[in-house]
Amino acid sequence: MIKLIEAADYDEMSRQVAAIIIRQVKEKPDAVLGLATGSTVLGTYHELVADHRQNGTSYRRVRTVNLDEYVGLGPDHPNSYRYYMNHHLFGQLDIPIDQTHVPDGLAVDLDEECRRYERLIDELGGIDLQLLGIGRNGHIGFNEPGTPFSTATHVVELTELTREANARFFPSFDDVPRYAITMGIATILRSRRIVLLASGEEKAEAIARLLEGVVTPDLPASALHLHPDVTIIADREALALI
Ligand code: GLP
Repeated sequence: MIKLIEAADYDEMSRQVAAIIIRQVKEKPDAVLGLATGSTVLGTYHELVADHRQNGTSYRRVRTVNLDEYVGLGPDHPNSYRYYMNHHLFGQLDIPIDQTHVPDGLAVDLDEECRRYERLIDELGGIDLQLLGIGRNGHIGFNEPGTPFSTATHVVELTELTREANARFFPSFDDVPRYAITMGIATILRSRRIVLLASGEEKAEAIARLLEGVVTPDLPASALHLHPDVTIIADREALALI
């Protein structure tokens, strides 16, 4: 079941998502949070940091697992997702860094790294709350159109569209990595609760297709219709086509 919440704008969306995360952490102080990167979730992370400073919400026992990471970029690379998370969130909360997990894009054996990541999620007891953004082509994590819903964590070759969409963070298009490690759709669907965020008109088409309700690997996010507890929080621009 997908529940839709409309937010007036990006800031309201961010506040609503942050409130859900804060509630989760208060209810279960050692919650496992599944986290995403990109522009959409940035405002949510700012809200969490502001709340932590003002109200002292503690993350000392929280564990986190991120959705994805570029192959070939290490923690010190400013475009790696590990760097993003340390910089925007983990470094500003009281969470011990060894309780935070991001796939290792520098692993020598990438397939083994994918298997390790799946085992890790199981050992943590599964994901309580998974945050998701959505790609313009409907990808979630880096699961591009055509990915079978049964996939676990795996290595993907990124589509041109996704590399172009993410090129703004890199010096040039050629610097955008060609491969990434991502949780699979099956991994994502095992989360107990999922919150998908969408902001801006460039997401409107993907959101409209998702809300049409046709479940197809052509639109990876449509797999969310198979999950019992999904909330979409989208701003007006992202809902413009529904
Ligand atoms: C990227 C990430 C996704 C993210 C999506 C949207 O490719 N791998 O996890 O959700 O694209 O990103 P943004 O929020 O920057 O639009």
